[in-house]
Formats: sequence, C-alpha cells, structure tokens
Amino acid sequence: MKVLVVGGAGYIGSHMVKRLGQLGCTVTTLDNLSSGHADAVLAGELVVGDIADTALLHSLFERGRFDAVMHFASFIQVGESVQHPAKYYENNVTNTLNLLNAMKAFGVLRFIFSSTAATFGEPQYSPIDEAHPQRPINPYGRTKLMVEQALADYDTAYGLKSVCLRYFNAAGADPEGQLGERHDPETHLIPLVLQAASGRRPNISVFGTDYDTPDGTCIRDYIHIADLCEAHWLALQSLVAGQDSQAYNLGNGNGFSVQEVIDAAGRVTGRPIPVQYGARRAGDPARLVADSRNAREKLGWQPQFPDLETIIGHAWQFEEKCRAGRG
Ligand SMILES: NC(=O)c1ccc[n+]([C@@H]2O[C@H](COP(=O)([O-])OP(=O)(O)OC[C@H]3O[C@@H](n4cnc5c(N)ncnc54)[C@H](O)[C@@H]3O)[C@@H](O)[C@H]2O)c1
Repeated sequence: MKVLVVGGAGYIGSHMVKRLGQLGCTVTTLDNLSSGHADAVLAGELVVGDIADTALLHSLFERGRFDAVMHFASFIQVGESVQHPAKYYENNVTNTLNLLNAMKAFGVLRFIFSSTAATFGEPQYSPIDEAHPQRPINPYGRTKLMVEQALADYDTAYGLKSVCLRYFNAAGADPEGQLGERHDPETHLIPLVLQAASGRRPNISVFGTDYDTPDGTCIRDYIHIADLCEAHWLALQSLVAGQDSQAYNLGNGNGFSVQEVIDAAGRVTGRPIPVQYGARRAGDPARLVADSRNAREKLGWQPQFPDLETIIGHAWQFEEKCRAGRG
C-alpha cells in the first residue's frame, strides 16, 4: 500500500511513518518542517514542502499513485489559535481543502484525518461519545470541526471516504526509544512534567486545584502514541475494506488527574518534580474523557499501553535520550 503522510515529521506523524514502514507500506512524508524534524522521518521519502503548494501536490499525486492520505499537518496550540485565528483558519482549513482538492483531482479517495476532542467544547456529559454535541469553544477546535464537516460533503459529492479520529491527549513515545515528543514551545503535560524532572525547566505549573474532581486538579485522557497509530492503521483498513466514512473518539477511557500524572512521573523517574500551583486557566474543562467503545467495536481497536506509568516510562526514555544528546 502506498500512503502519503502529511505532517509526518511531527510528533504523531513520525510515529505513524515508522509504523507504516514496519507494516510494509511505501510511505512518502510531506512536511514543511514548521514544527517537525527531518531526522524523525524513519521510513520512506521525505518531501519538504507545504500543502498550500498546489503545484507540488499535483506533482506528488502524479508520480505517487497513493492509495490513501493521512493528514497530521496543522497548527495545534489552542491559546495561539485565540490570538492568531487567521493563521489557524488558513493552515488548518484552507490548506486542508487544498489538499483534499488535489486528492479529488487525482482520484485519491481515502483520507485519515487527525481531529480532536476540542471539537466537542465544554462536556455535557462524561465519558464523551461520538453522539456528544460538537460545540468547540476556540478557533483551533472550530478549524477541526470545519474540516470534519467539509469531509462529510466531499464524501457525498465526490465519494472521498474519510475517517476522522478525534484524539484526546496523545502521549508517550516510541516504545523502541527512537522517537518522541519535541514540540517547541511544549504545551503538553507529560513532556512538561518530565522536563521538570530532568531539570530542563525549573518546575511544572498546575492551573487550578479546586475543580470538582477527587484531588481538585483537571482530569484528562492520555492515549499512548503507539495505540493511536494502531487506530490509524485499522481506520485505513476499514476504508480499504469498503466501509463508509466514520468518526471515532480515541482515548483510554481512563481519566487521570494532573496530580496523578505528576505523582506517577515521580515514581517512574525517581526524581523530585517541583510544582507551582496556580489559579484555573480560562476554558479548561474539569474532565475530558473519551468513550472509545465505537473504535473498539467497529475497528477492533485494543489499546496495548493503557497504563499511565508505561506511557510516562516511554516518554521518559525519550526525554533521557534528548538530555544525553545535548551532553
Ligand atoms: N498532540 C495531541 O495531543 C493531539 C491531540 C488531538 C489532535 N491532534 C492533532 O494531531 C495532528 C498532529 O499533532 P502533533 O502533536 O503531531 O503536531 P506536530 O506539530 O508535532 O506535527 C504537525 C506537523 O505538520 C507539519 N505541518 C504543519 N503545517 C504544515 C503545512 N501547511 N504543510 C506541510 N506540513 C505542515 C509540521 O511541520 C509538523 O511536522 C494535528 O493535526 C493535531 O491537531 C494532536
């Protein structure tokens, strides 16, 4: 199978590229390296370029004869999307439509899309299933929902079949230690906690200790990157088997509080983790946990690494490698 992975030099995309290579696929990565890393592309060819570049897309599709496209390329920071919505609408929506139009022009009609729990907005109930209303509360979430809606229309009109995978919190790292999370700036809890453990940052800030949760800190659903990649592969298989377009929520189904993550990281690393407790941040719901029963039942997805300490352990293995690399 020939797969074009857009954004394959980023955190999640690079793990997917490696996995597709292991599965025997011919992989091409297209990435503009705005936040990705060329050395993270461990299988196939890396084409450095932008999905805004129609001529480049056409030349790739002309010579590629891809069976499917997996799309990880977007801007991902909620706070920045509030400050600079134009940047987000342009890259996450306009550029994605450019990619879809090139696919349509060349008859590539299978698409796996990285969507997000942020399309749901403030939870009306928990855990969150696919029937939950989608009312995003920030531009980032709205850009992702717009693409989901465009995909439904592209299916009806052009037969472009897609699976939207709404990740909750992608976490962990390649169990073999080759890849991990390298965002700059980093905004995700587990790498931030581990950087505080390793001394790369002075402490970890916790926003809010008075939520209606057992220990007062926010609860989130962390899904191991390897399990996420497996879900993408199964989603692609479902399209190859002729199944219809779908959207799935992807999470562990087990929520962990910020304090539980910090405590687990202390156990895994054996190091003290300096914590600065502060006030709540606007727009952070108390609890975001996925109901992933649909993915389990319809895709046959079975997370292999649901355990929080394993997720943190793999991320720590990569953090230590990065620290050693810097000397
Ligand atoms: N990390 C998470 O917890 C999480 C949760 C929910 C959804 N997602 C979604 O998953 C996807 C991947 O997230 P990530 O954490 O790997 O992000 P990332 O920033 O590490 O990866 C994104 C990649 O896309 C590339 N890129 C961005 N715009 C591009 C463009 N116009 N043309 C070509 N390449 C471009 C970047 O250089 C980068 O390599 C994103 O779409 C994100 O919205 C991530």
